[in-house]
Amino acid sequence: MVQTQDRATELDSLRQTFGAARVDEDVRRAGVRALFDRIAPRYDLMNDLMSFGLHRLWKRKMVRVVLKRLEGFDGPLVDLAGGTGDIAFGVKSADPVRRVIVADASDGMLDIARKRGGDSVEYLHAEAEAMPLADGSAAGVTLAFGLRNMTDPARALGEAARMLAPGASLVLLEFSKPAAWFAPFYGLHSRYIIPAIGALVARDRGAYTYLVESIRLFPAADDVTRALDNAGLQTIEQRALMFGVAVMHVAVKK
Ligand SMILES: C[S@@+](CC[C@H](N)C(=O)[O-])C[C@H]1O[C@@H](n2cnc3c(N)ncnc32)[C@H](O)[C@@H]1O
Repeated sequence: MVQTQDRATELDSLRQTFGAARVDEDVRRAGVRALFDRIAPRYDLMNDLMSFGLHRLWKRKMVRVVLKRLEGFDGPLVDLAGGTGDIAFGVKSADPVRRVIVADASDGMLDIARKRGGDSVEYLHAEAEAMPLADGSAAGVTLAFGLRNMTDPARALGEAARMLAPGASLVLLEFSKPAAWFAPFYGLHSRYIIPAIGALVARDRGAYTYLVESIRLFPAADDVTRALDNAGLQTIEQRALMFGVAVMHVAVKK
């Protein structure tokens, strides 16, 4: 199998990758969906173990930013690639009258979300690249740790822009390129510890090797800013978390 080695600079170049392997787009799309269906029951526990609980802190930060950006906008918050619902439930509990929609391509992930959230929010089985929601209908869109899994990430950003009301925001959280001094520690953690925990706890080393590879290949924050701009979203804030391990972009529909 052909392997991809270098971090991408364009979102588009991820379309035919599955981790480090090169594959056709339809193989990638089906592979990602099957992978998340498979790991869904262990997804939340794995996140806690792999990040030492840090992802909760990052998501809390993201929710605080989202709540600010929602002020003055009516309509739903759409959590794209919402998975098991962390961001959606965080927004809903702080803004109980807000309509909140968790959208995801994996039934397995949505099943877990439903078990956690009951009917407090709505669940939508949908690809972020083709959302069945009207133009300008969303008060806000969130996308946490989902963009690098998309087969057509540029199109997903385009869909976010299409759904947003003018002046409303997409808040994007994604793994990124850590600062040079921190990269060796992070590299060891992601190369050895994460796949080992994946094998032990989720009994799926392959899935977690994919996740690590997809993080390593994902474009750096400034390239993401450019992709957001191309989609019609102007970045007003780009915040590095944990020395750049993750980056939050706040981007407003132009
Ligand atoms: C790493 S999880 C993130 C879940 C959640 N947002 C969180 O932060 O915990 C990535 C999610 O993206 C979803 N996903 C992958 N490709 C997708 C696509 N094309 N459209 C919608 N969801 C997708 C997966 O099913 C999975 O639930």
